[in-house]
Amino acid sequence: MKTAVRGIVGAPVDRIEGREKVTGQARYAFEHLPDDVAYAWAVLSPVARGEIRAIDASAALADPEVVAVISVENSPTLVRVDDGELALFQDRTIHYRGQIVAAAVANSLEAAREGAARVRIDADAQPHDVELTPGHPKLYAPEVVNAGFPPDSVIGDVDAALARSETVVDVTYRTPAEHNNPMEPHATLAIWEPDGSLTLHDSNQGAVVARDTIAQLLGLDPARVRVLSPHVGGGFGSKARPRPSAVLAALAAQITGRPVKLAVTRQQMFAFTGYRTPTLQRLRLGADADGRLTAISQEVSEQTSTVREFVEQTATPARVMYAAHNRRTTHRVAALDVPTPSIMRAPGEAPGMYALESAIDELASATGLDPIALRARNEPQLDPERGVPFSSRNLLACLREGAARFGWDRREPAPGTRRDGRWLLGTGVAASTYPVYRYPAQATARLRPDGGLVVSIAAADIGTGARTVLTQLAADALDVQIGRVTVELGDSALPRAFMAGASMGTASWGSAVVRACEALRARIAEHGDAPLEADLEAHADTTEEIARLENLSRHAFGAQFAEVRVDPDTGEIRVPRMLGVFAAGRIINAKTARSQMVGGMTMGLSMALMEESVMDREFGDYLNHDLAQYHVAANADVRDIEAIFLDEEDPHLNPIGSKGIGELGIVGTAAAIGNAVYHATGVRIRELPLRLDRVLAVLPRAVR
Ligand code: MOS
Repeated sequence: MKTAVRGIVGAPVDRIEGREKVTGQARYAFEHLPDDVAYAWAVLSPVARGEIRAIDASAALADPEVVAVISVENSPTLVRVDDGELALFQDRTIHYRGQIVAAAVANSLEAAREGAARVRIDADAQPHDVELTPGHPKLYAPEVVNAGFPPDSVIGDVDAALARSETVVDVTYRTPAEHNNPMEPHATLAIWEPDGSLTLHDSNQGAVVARDTIAQLLGLDPARVRVLSPHVGGGFGSKARPRPSAVLAALAAQITGRPVKLAVTRQQMFAFTGYRTPTLQRLRLGADADGRLTAISQEVSEQTSTVREFVEQTATPARVMYAAHNRRTTHRVAALDVPTPSIMRAPGEAPGMYALESAIDELASATGLDPIALRARNEPQLDPERGVPFSSRNLLACLREGAARFGWDRREPAPGTRRDGRWLLGTGVAASTYPVYRYPAQATARLRPDGGLVVSIAAADIGTGARTVLTQLAADALDVQIGRVTVELGDSALPRAFMAGASMGTASWGSAVVRACEALRARIAEHGDAPLEADLEAHADTTEEIARLENLSRHAFGAQFAEVRVDPDTGEIRVPRMLGVFAAGRIINAKTARSQMVGGMTMGLSMALMEESVMDREFGDYLNHDLAQYHVAANADVRDIEAIFLDEEDPHLNPIGSKGIGELGIVGTAAAIGNAVYHATGVRIRELPLRLDRVLAVLPRAVR
């Protein structure tokens, strides 16, 4: 038996629910259809800042199909929670254009939509401030940035070191607002049960977080709320915490006494479900004559809303990447009349490493060093700011393996020298990094009398393959074939676990699953060979295990290589080839892990060339709010993308030895592409996305 299952961890196992998904049998939140269901449609504020004077629902309510109109004028009082976005209909203040200010509930989706269009919002519009500009007067230093990091870090004297440096790069990079666009927009079906408890079929990245938050808002014991989300069509961070739409569904069901379904439209996803903040980033790098960094400074400006402070951890990777005695990172934020930014795949690392890794490439040019040699020269022995060892760090191995596979040694160092007909050709490289996080989790493992093994945990599979990976880990720990194991997840009633976020799902949930399975094996051994009368069960909780972790710096690393072709007449950039080499600890499923990296790199390509939410100053809102105008990379944009993992053993992480892979793949991609565009053209664009007009604006006439 042992031989039969050996190797199941790491194997390219197909997604367990794959057939259910491709045959349409997997039920997503909006696909449930209870009797007597009603539909809710949100009414969004027409101005970016102001006060609601009155809400006229009469025209909507004149339609007999419309059951209710909910607004500040009739909403129940909610308990305050830390996320002001969720305080629906609690006061008359409008904080941003697109804020939910009312909703129509009707017998059909169409009637709800029509009813919502007939609700008249009389608002006293006030001047708004929606644009993050350099030196914006509202910029301030927050107390903490996302994931609990301090906003600033200062070591040594950056200014003095820069003044003494042989080479200085002082550049400002700019990244735009970007909106999360998972395939399945947010959706909720809310059902109040006759006993006063609440069931939500909801699309989210964590059923427990959703349950606890909704229960708190409604003043309910969490035990009386159940959130079910067995299948979720992606999130990229936008579903990490419940959005106002889930609250609205619950309120609408409460007010009407009927089950209520609410589907957020693609356009509404650009209004109230979060987005990546725009950033302005000033990078200053100083180096000595040998290309050794003497100073690293990254100063970031970004935006938040007036509803809730969210500050992305943009400069935190600069605290980890390179050695230098003098260092400074700062985050400043302005609270504008905009929706609250939130997390989007690698919040912090994705825009922060774009700027840092582009600036490193600029330093390579300025010092005349190869970009890989420059990185190798500045590889730190210890975590450069914390002074503690890395649990493992294989950045250089990734760069070297990638260089060999990509053919980096054939690269002509000088930019702007290769052409293929009209096309200018170039290649670029950048590093990736993402922290290793782990959160406490509980899991239960059960052996049934019929021999089946059931593992239960309130984990989330948002399309990543989490269910498959947990099944592999359980089968391995129990020493059985994967077909004998069923993993239950996506239900807040299961043993407590945190969300699919911060690339920590596998490490957090997998560790609890392994511990529960180990405990069950011990119980099975104690029980012996006698037939089972009832389930044998074992439970695990990893809280204490995590508390005992050593003080080490834990990060995954990678190297990304890109080849680009730039059309000097149109400014078009094509990316015929990308390669990512990653060191992320033990890989549990070769197939789903590769998909994560290829997906992340595709999203990085999208970030480099296309994604941009454009603020309309006059209306005070993002102008492009559908996939016709907000472009994401699609199949035709993606040519040859390959992602490989190095073997990396790290015993200092968790029982399964894995680092996170959900976000690592997007980090560094945009820099690798931008660096390749520089190599192709000889000119540097310091603003994403690398639009045609931006390329044409800087390309010298001689090239064109
Ligand atoms: Mo990820 S942006 O932490 O869901």
